[in-house]
Amino acid sequence: MARVLVVDDETGVRESLRMLLKQECEVVTADGADAGLRAMAELPMDLVILDLVMPGRSGLSFLEELQEQSDAPPVIVLTATKTVTTAVEAMKLGAADYVTKPYEIDALRIKVRQLLQHRALQHEVVRLTDELDQRTRVGELVGKSDAMRDVFRTIERLARSPATVLIRGESGTGKELAARAIHDLSPRAGGPFIPVNCAAIPDTLMESELFGHERGAFTDARERRIGKFESAGGGTLFLDEIGELAPGPQAKLLRALQERVIERVGGTGTIEVDARILAATNRDLEQEVRAGRFREDLYYRIHVVPLEMPPLRDRREDVRLLAELFLKRARERAAQGPLRIARETQLALERYGWPGNVRELENVIERAVTLTDGEILELADLPEALMRETRTDDLRERLRGGRLSLEDAVASFEQEALREALEQAGWNQTRAADALGVTRRLLKIKMDRHGLTKP
Ligand SMILES: Nc1ncnc2c1ncn2[C@@H]1O[C@H](COP(=O)(O)OP(=O)(O)OP(=O)(O)O)[C@@H](O)[C@H]1O
Ligand SMILES: [Mg+2]
Repeated sequence: MARVLVVDDETGVRESLRMLLKQECEVVTADGADAGLRAMAELPMDLVILDLVMPGRSGLSFLEELQEQSDAPPVIVLTATKTVTTAVEAMKLGAADYVTKPYEIDALRIKVRQLLQHRALQHEVVRLTDELDQRTRVGELVGKSDAMRDVFRTIERLARSPATVLIRGESGTGKELAARAIHDLSPRAGGPFIPVNCAAIPDTLMESELFGHERGAFTDARERRIGKFESAGGGTLFLDEIGELAPGPQAKLLRALQERVIERVGGTGTIEVDARILAATNRDLEQEVRAGRFREDLYYRIHVVPLEMPPLRDRREDVRLLAELFLKRARERAAQGPLRIARETQLALERYGWPGNVRELENVIERAVTLTDGEILELADLPEALMRETRTDDLRERLRGGRLSLEDAVASFEQEALREALEQAGWNQTRAADALGVTRRLLKIKMDRHGLTKP
């Protein structure tokens, strides 16, 4: 129940207002401005009815003080008819409304009701926005970085619209999960979610895959087959890796999107399309259009609303959350107890560049879980590449902290660089020397100095 504070020095006014309002709200009374402010400090109020002319601190001063507070409740000011100018003053100070004494019972009641309703709505909006801001997952997507919260908000918005969405992002950033989340939060959630991987289906089969075929349409078509467009009726069709689509299917797809009808291969009639289209790509589609590999008109059809999945290296705050999620999953799958992540492991995970994004993190954690035999995930359980990045970072820190001489730091760095080049060249010395821009002879000398030999 809403709570209303009545501030008036006259007992009669206070009591009649209590009688008037007690059915719709809890009424708290105060006989002066100071008592009113004390009451407000004790209990949150949703509305204040305030007399302006009172002995001691005035109603205007009360109002001024109130406006300093964040989330101050609305105020209805009570005035005697002759002091309307003061009422105007009060409105300037932020009062929501005023009523002249003697007040009209119904008019006052309506004003109270409206202001309380408005206040409740305001609070609801704040609560919902907060909830959305605090959310660390939408569908299967997890994240707490600002970048991911933006993604979550966009997904919620896109779920409510029927627009075609192009989801972009590097490999492993969660494009497919985003598509599923949009579907699951949309009014079509009860319908099917049909993914089509445009990269995995041979060009010759693509049309029949998307649009279906009639019996006898081509040599292998022994049965009539329903295409993905039709299967996705009432639901969502997810065209994954759309950048890989060949020119033939591109043309057919464009027609389907433009005219909202399809034709089965070998069929005669047209069939209406009732599928929402989501598409994803990790390619630079604009570049593909310029290179003539992707139709410009199709590009504009699918690029109605873009959703950008940020790479993991741009949102390192998410690494820990995701690592813990994957860790828990992997351990549960193996029916093993919890595993703690050592601090230096954590730092290494957060520092690494993650070219394969979340998928790579998931793989690293899964692999580490199978390697470790203790209760703590150690740095040594991580792949070589992660440890190496950490080692060079360490070097810099130790040098800066005066714990390492410049000479030793340079030597360590040189050793790392040599090892990396050699590993990348499969320990072919000529290629490693080329990559480093030194002669093979010098490389050999340095290898001997650092004791580097092919494992
Ligand atoms: N934000 C996330 N929260 C939880 N899991 C995630 C998140 N992002 C990605 N993943 C996981 O990472 C893997 C890759 O995600 P997904 O397949 O959606 O990526 P993608 O962008 O479609 O990659 P690709 O371009 O390689 O197809 C999946 O196992 C998915 O569960
Ligand atoms: Mg994908």
